[in-house]
Amino acid sequence: MVKKSSNQMWGGRFAAGPDAIMQAINASIGFDQRMAAEDIAGSKAHAAMLASAGIISDSDAQAMREGLDAILSEIEAGKFQFSEALEDIHMNVEARLTELIGAPAGRLHTARSRNDQVALDFKLWVRGQLDATEAALVTLLHACLRQAEAGADWVMPGFTHLQVAQPVTWGHHMMAYVEMFGRDLGRVRDARRRMNECPLGAAALAGTSFAIDREMTAQELGFDRPAANSLDAVSDRDFALEFLGCASICAMHLSRMAEELVIWSSAQFRFIALSDRFSTGSSIMPQKKNPDAAELIRAKIGRIFGANVALMLVMKGLPLTYSKDMQEDKELVFDAADNLMLALAAMAGMLGDLRANKEALEAAAGAGFSTATDLADWLVRVLDMPFREAHHVTGSLVAMAENKGCDLGELGLDEMQTVHEGMTSEVFEVLGVHNSVASRMSYGGTAPAQVRAQIARWKEILA
Ligand code: ARG
Repeated sequence: MVKKSSNQMWGGRFAAGPDAIMQAINASIGFDQRMAAEDIAGSKAHAAMLASAGIISDSDAQAMREGLDAILSEIEAGKFQFSEALEDIHMNVEARLTELIGAPAGRLHTARSRNDQVALDFKLWVRGQLDATEAALVTLLHACLRQAEAGADWVMPGFTHLQVAQPVTWGHHMMAYVEMFGRDLGRVRDARRRMNECPLGAAALAGTSFAIDREMTAQELGFDRPAANSLDAVSDRDFALEFLGCASICAMHLSRMAEELVIWSSAQFRFIALSDRFSTGSSIMPQKKNPDAAELIRAKIGRIFGANVALMLVMKGLPLTYSKDMQEDKELVFDAADNLMLALAAMAGMLGDLRANKEALEAAAGAGFSTATDLADWLVRVLDMPFREAHHVTGSLVAMAENKGCDLGELGLDEMQTVHEGMTSEVFEVLGVHNSVASRMSYGGTAPAQVRAQIARWKEILA
């Protein structure tokens, strides 16, 4: 007989129920109800395995399956009454199963503990999130590729230190992000492969004396194999940390791109125009069109990396195996996952809509003596000058142009020849930004032909 005053799941040895504050600090149902579908899938697989192993009867397993399906329907319909007194999703589901099917429900927890149960549920949830992240990244990659394709040969300034460095192409710049988000995609896939081992059957920590079939449950739940050490299986949260690691690096990439969109959409740059759909206005300044989505994406790294650090700190120093500290894992991961998905979708939306200002990009591409390196390279190639000397000669020409307030290409040949007598009018060809980018044909360089080759390669990868 279970005493009414104590917890109906574990209250056998308790004379009194928990203090209200105990209940408040202990309960996780407020957030772990997000794992209801995973919890039920895990229980169904466990019940089927128990029956197949002859540990429970087929009729009990069938009653469990039907009851669990009914509970999932109630939850999905918003009709399920979650109870804080029942602590978490695992006990809420089991208590409701008892109401629905009676005594057989009490056999579901045979050869299982909430420790392997929560490890399983959370792992299934994170795995689903890795899949969703993968899909969102592919969508974003396609948005980058479309931008790159449209402007494969549009010239723009390339920057170092946010100072004009050399002309590059819009397509090349977009393809840089394709490489970054492509690595994010690879990390997500790696993490999924590594985490795909099933903790169910580790029981509390030591395994179980029942003759369970862990291969069967692992297979049923889409895992590659059962986790090989029961102590590790219940105490491991690497999969959540790896997800947060992937999410953090991806959010950092998103933040860098967002920062560029903020700069580029300013009146000083005018490199891009964001669509009305992905900008906001000011309540006082009628002229304003603000890049709020980009700014918020830029900020998301804060909470996502914060979650990564926080869970690291929760896990560090925990003795094996399960400790209740680990209940703090879920809200961090849920929040990071929600915000990563939102940021990925917002970035894909912004990129899909944004219009690059080809004329402004081109005008800026030639400013700031951006073809000075081309001039130095010309001196090396045509006049056989050592590069160090060519660098020096070019520096003098830049200073001359700066003093005159003109571009390198606007200097007269006679003026140039006062710096070096070997200069010929042929030099003016390399001072044009289009020739400059077209000449950078080295593998991975900014020449439109190289950019198009990379676009084709990525289209094949993503096909
Ligand atoms: N709500 C718990 C959690 O999220 C479930 C596991 C509880 N296990 C235990 N031994 N008390 O971690």
